[in-house]
Amino acid sequence: MADRRTRLTRATQAGLAWDQQHHAVVPPIYLSTTYAWPKPGESPGHEYSRSSNPTRSLLAETIADLESGAGAEITASGMAALTTLVAAFVPAGALVAIPHDCYGGTWRLFSSLARKEQFEVAYVDFTDPAATAAVLARKPALVLLESPSNPLLRITDLPNVIDAAHGVGATVAVDNTFLSPALQRPIELGADIVIHSTTKFLNGHSDVVGGAVVGATAEIVQELRWWANCLGTPGGALDSYLTLRGIRTLGVRMKAHCDNAQALAELLAQHPAVRATHYPGLSDDPGHDLARQQQDGFGGMLSFELNDLAAAKRCLSGAHLLLPRRIARRRRKPHLPPREHDPRGHAARGSSRCRNLRRHAPHRGRHRDHRRPRRRPARRSRQGAQVVDRSGGGTRLASLVHRSERFTERCDPGLLVGADQPDAPGEGVGA
Ligand SMILES: Cc1ncc(COP(=O)(O)O)c(C=O)c1O
Repeated sequence: MADRRTRLTRATQAGLAWDQQHHAVVPPIYLSTTYAWPKPGESPGHEYSRSSNPTRSLLAETIADLESGAGAEITASGMAALTTLVAAFVPAGALVAIPHDCYGGTWRLFSSLARKEQFEVAYVDFTDPAATAAVLARKPALVLLESPSNPLLRITDLPNVIDAAHGVGATVAVDNTFLSPALQRPIELGADIVIHSTTKFLNGHSDVVGGAVVGATAEIVQELRWWANCLGTPGGALDSYLTLRGIRTLGVRMKAHCDNAQALAELLAQHPAVRATHYPGLSDDPGHDLARQQQDGFGGMLSFELNDLAAAKRCLSGAHLLLPRRIARRRRKPHLPPREHDPRGHAARGSSRCRNLRRHAPHRGRHRDHRRPRRRPARRSRQGAQVVDRSGGGTRLASLVHRSERFTERCDPGLLVGADQPDAPGEGVGA
């Protein structure tokens, strides 16, 4: 019978009932580094966990299925995925084209290796057809795309740029970290390879640093896996297990991320202190129409610019969480019905369960008694933004502003002071 499940449903069920020995419903974690051969010369399929591991293979198959790829290798980080890509697909002395506004770590990797004269790198605005044509005329061996880009959320016309790059013989890889396969599948748009930092949306719980490289064909997958084994970049079994568990909720999480980012972007776009908001979900964003065509959602990341560094620092130190007013109002609403009518059977206000909740989780709006004075009153801006200093969900402004700083620093050193981001060997270690 044909499998009529959607790819996201298949991901929620990946590996369930896979254990033939004990029939565990949730797949076990294989931590063993080595696997015994029944007889000399008869491999059981896995031999040594750097080369392959059952838990990692299960995650690789799941991500490959989500991305419409022929297969994948799981790596120890997104940077390990990019390192594997470079080793496998960039011949010595070749030209590599990468986005001019790519993730800072990607920029650091490629620029550092180029400084060591391993290859030449061109930083390209792939949203500009003339700049794209000019670099393709130089016949790069590898074109790396990031759409949306980090941090400016620029959208590249993937089918057209990929097609043109193939026309000059380039291998095309797309970093799909920002959207995840729930919202975009670059291989379906023509890409040869997809890169992921699974640290972000795929795992989704901030407890694993991981990555993945997905190939469109069996030959590409074989090449990537060979180099991953050679370099020692593959990820661990426990991380693979956690990432697989995270992926089971990818579909619902991405919907919530899109809703949150859209609400925040609309708020920021009309805020007087914000110079520019970058989010393809805004109807006047330059990438809006393209994103509608090639994506299944606008994504959970946005960035915005303030007038100067001092404003960015004030914003960073003052806000941990920014809630549009309508979300904040919904959260503040007391959810508990009066004591005498409690059809849902919840603990009534004043009950011991409710008092315990207040003591142990005073931040949880759901259980907060609305008559009780708030510990720290929230400050509210004129535009309806509510700046609160508690954690607990939402889009993280701190890292967004931090990333924009890095980018601005790279592109326009005159604008920002403080080179506290180590970007060259010998300058220390930074993300
Ligand atoms: C788009 C993108 N690619 C790659 C990476 C690197 O991933 P990792 O931190 O897992 O090494 C990041 C990290 O933020 C990223 O945002």
